[in-house]
Amino acid sequence: MKLRLDKYLADMGQGTRSEVKKAIRKGLVQVNGRTVREPEYKVDTEEDQVLFAGRQAEYEEYEYYMLNKPAGVISASEDARERCVVDLIESRKRKDLFPVGRLDKDTEGLLLITNDGALAHRLLSPKKHVDKVYYARVQGRVTQEDVELFGQGVDIGEEKQTLPADLCILETGDISKVELTIREGRFHQVKRMFQAVGKEVLYLKRLRMGPLALDESLEPGQYRTLNTQELDILC
Ligand code: URA
Repeated sequence: MKLRLDKYLADMGQGTRSEVKKAIRKGLVQVNGRTVREPEYKVDTEEDQVLFAGRQAEYEEYEYYMLNKPAGVISASEDARERCVVDLIESRKRKDLFPVGRLDKDTEGLLLITNDGALAHRLLSPKKHVDKVYYARVQGRVTQEDVELFGQGVDIGEEKQTLPADLCILETGDISKVELTIREGRFHQVKRMFQAVGKEVLYLKRLRMGPLALDESLEPGQYRTLNTQELDILC
């Protein structure tokens, strides 16, 4: 891909467009060993070697991060008041990153952060019914009857019932532990499904989204780039 030098550097997080323009005019940028002072100079993102203040600035069209979302952070790219999941990705280069789907502020777990809109569409499109797997702690005794109800779909106060979901009871008691697989992404869906059977979700964590599983070595708030195997199955 061919890009203007100032856009290339701004995309790679080297500064705002006007900051990098100034730096280019000052002679701080080299392309293939030659100082280039024209911000409009066209760079080949695959072929050309760009140095900014002596450091290599490699171009990445897409970035992909797996975040273990902590509670207390909202699933957004930016917000005037609240801390957002994208703010947690300190090593990000690009400014156009967004979370693929939303988890509630108090939900933890797997969140993919990228700027790849086509991938996000494949994972989120309601027509694709991508599996989302959650671990939950629930107030009340989750029963076999709940498993059957969830398997048929439940009324959460919308025009349509939920699609059949797989509920697996891990532990039952005054507080039950479950794994739930849903194939939609309705607002507060897991919490509302349990409300529909008279129970309250106390803790919620997403474990999987389609073929992508949360790396359990990531503590809440930690992230890493996707590895090549994960990229191969997703992209
Ligand atoms: N369902 C919910 O209720 N909350 C989430 O964050 C995700 C799914």
